[in-house]
This record gives sequence, structure tokens and C-alpha cells, in this order.
Amino acid sequence: MHLDKTRKNQRGDAARLGALKLLAAVEDGATLDEAADLLEEMSPAELARARRLARAALRHGSRVDALLAPMLARRPRPEIRRVLRLASTELLVLGEAPHGVVNEAVKICRGLGGKGQAASGMVNAVLRKVASSAEAWAGLQPQPMPDWLRAPVVARWGDDVARAIEAAHEAGAPLDLTAKSGTAPGEKLPTGSFRLPSGTQISALEGYADGNWWVQDAAAAMAVRILDPKPGERIADLCAAPGGKTLQLAAAGADVTALDISESRLGRVAENLERCGLSARLIAGDALDWRPDAPLDGILLDAPCSATGTIRRHPELPLIRDGSAVAGLAALQSKLIDHALDLLSPGGRLVFATCSLLPQEGEDQLEAVLARHPEVTVEPVRAEGIEPGWLSERGALRLRPDLWPERGGMDGFFIACLRKSD
Ligand SMILES: C[S@@+](CC[C@H](N)C(=O)[O-])C[C@H]1O[C@@H](n2cnc3c(N)ncnc32)[C@H](O)[C@@H]1O
Repeated sequence: MHLDKTRKNQRGDAARLGALKLLAAVEDGATLDEAADLLEEMSPAELARARRLARAALRHGSRVDALLAPMLARRPRPEIRRVLRLASTELLVLGEAPHGVVNEAVKICRGLGGKGQAASGMVNAVLRKVASSAEAWAGLQPQPMPDWLRAPVVARWGDDVARAIEAAHEAGAPLDLTAKSGTAPGEKLPTGSFRLPSGTQISALEGYADGNWWVQDAAAAMAVRILDPKPGERIADLCAAPGGKTLQLAAAGADVTALDISESRLGRVAENLERCGLSARLIAGDALDWRPDAPLDGILLDAPCSATGTIRRHPELPLIRDGSAVAGLAALQSKLIDHALDLLSPGGRLVFATCSLLPQEGEDQLEAVLARHPEVTVEPVRAEGIEPGWLSERGALRLRPDLWPERGGMDGFFIACLRKSD
């Protein structure tokens, strides 16, 4: 009994120390995925908890800072600030027992050497105050999006929507599954995906080993539903990795060619296809240089983008991006769209999708395509479960994290279906 308890405490420490390393790596510009690769020594369970803790701390960063500010005589050193942020998140958001959280935080400070030792008394006193600050915490706003993202969101949809998106970012994301055919674990959503609570252990779910379903956000799953592939149709997935949409295309019985510029990421598509018993032709290379032997019936272009629609899952993104890459990404998207249209047979359809909240990578991109290509029309999106309020003026699909608040939200996506004239 005693031994078990000791092991459990050590596990707790390892996860907290891991979370602090993740937070430090994010401050240095790494994504959580990149940072997690550095924590090889941790067990999968510890790493999963470390990631959960780090994600929670990142989602509430500025709100925790606002609560802490009046409690601090001076700005703490970065390593102490991370301990305070993490422990405060555990107290205020994750509802962990104050005694344990404060003790562990103090222990971690002491373990940091001289400066940490010196700060441990302050950390103890501040965290005790934090533990009794639930009311002040409830009065604080969710973390705002950075200006480069907030400004275009407010310009397009207004401040109330921006705030609702920020609340959705703070709330995080549930686990969504797409069924190969038939059913998957979880609650069936109106659009056909299946939803489970966030933190559900994937490998323990029924049907995982058999490849009966895969993890895919409900919004991400809409692009292929809108393309509506038919058995035997010749379809290319031009930016395929890691492959959720390739799996959907293959499961529909289409003749699929999946490309990606990254050979290593394309390896993930191969693994996913194998696990699910599905097949597609895989090509590592630049989609801009690729031409099929004959024109295609359909193309899915899930283009590289700012990924600002996925902040619920990647809360580090606002910290490590500054928006400077967006113009280059939008230019690449335009080139990819032009090339894709050139590969389509007359009457063929192109679904253009980005997991972005920026009109520059969505609505504006669509206007520019229509101006450049008189031979193209917008096919109003049609698929099960789409609500009228999700459609843009042009009949494209504009999904945002603040939609479906009662169901747990969805990622942000822009999806348009273009038809090339006969
Ligand atoms: C948004 S992700 C695609 C996600 C994928 N469709 C899915 O559902 O799993 C964009 C992908 O485009 C790839 N990419 C970027 N530029 C490319 C290019 N010029 N040609 C082909 N792939 C490219 C990236 O390597 C990345 O894997």
C-alpha cells in the first residue's frame, strides 16, 4: 500500500516536471508535439498527463497571470513563473487538492537550486492565496487571441464572436471519431462524426485495433463529406498527411491518389491506411509539380495554412506564431488551387479547405479564385447536419470553434466546393 502511494507520487512529480519542460520548450518556440519528442524517458501515461497539464496551463496562461499579478511583489524568474502558472491551473481549473498541489510546487522550486530555494516561501504563500481565489478567477476573461488573429476575426464577425471563440479555445476539444463504415464509440453527431469526452484513452476504445474508425475532428471530417466521393471515382488528395481525409476517401471506395510534400508525414498516411485496411496510391512530392495520367473527377485540397482553427487542440499556437507566415501561405494556397483546377476533368469538382479562422485563407481566397477563373462556379455545400448559419454568402462552409457550444464546439474550417464548367 505504502509502496503504491510512493509510486503514485513519483508519477505525479514526473508528469508535473514533464509539463514544466513542455512549457519551457514552448516559450522557446517549439510546438507541444515537438517538445514532447524530447521527453523520451517518460512513460506514455506520464507523458499523456504532462501534455494535459501543459495544455491546460497554456489555455489559461494570461488569465492566470492576471490573477497572479497583484499577488506578486516583482516578476518572478521564468522557471518560477512556470511553476506558479502550472500549480495555479491545477488549483483553479483542474480542481486538484490544494495541499498536494502547493506542496509539490514548493518541492519543485526547492529542487531548482539556490534561486528556486529562495523563491519557495513566496511560491507557498502565493499558491495558498490562489487556492482561495475562486471568486476572483470566475470574474476574469478567457485568454484573448493575439492581435494578428483577433483583429481579422473581429472585422469579419464582431467582438461577441471573437469572445465566444476565445471561450471555446479555453474549453478545449472533445475527442471526435470518424467511422470507416457504420458506427464508432461515442455520441453520434448530426454531421455523422462520433464524440467522446476529452481525455478519453484512444487505444482502450473498442474497434481501434481493428481499424474501424480514426480520430478526426467533426469539422475536419466535413471536407470529404462535401466532396461526396463515389466508388471508382478518380480522386486526388493533394495535401494528404497525416491522412484523416485520405481514409475517408478510400473508405468511400474512390480510386485515391494521396500526395504530400513531406515523405515522413506521408509515412503516417501509410500507417493509418494499413491500420484501417484501406488503400490509396501514395506519392511523396510537391503537388505543384504533379500531373496525373488523365484528368481527375475530384480533388481534395486541404491546403497548408495558419492552422488558427485548431487552437483548442494546439493552445501553444498563439504563443509561437506571429502571423508573419500568413501572406506566404495564402499565396501558396492560390497556386495550389490554380494547379488543382488544371488537373480536373470538365465538370469535375475541387474541394478547397483550410483549418483557419482567417478570411485571408478562406472567404477572400474564394473571391480571388472566382475572379481569376471564369470557368469555375461555387457549388453550394451540401451534407448531412449542416446548419444554415454555417454557410457563407457564397455557399461555402464557415465553421468556427464557437459553433455547437452545447455539444463541445468544433475546429475552425473554411470549406468550399468549386465546379469546373463542362
Ligand atoms: C493541413 S495539412 C493536411 C491534413 C490532411 N489532409 C489530413 O486530413 O490529415 C497540410 C499538408 O500539406 C502538406 N504540403 C504543404 N505544401 C505542400 C505541397 N506543395 N505539395 C504537397 N503537400 C504539401 C504538408 O506537408 C501537410 O502535411
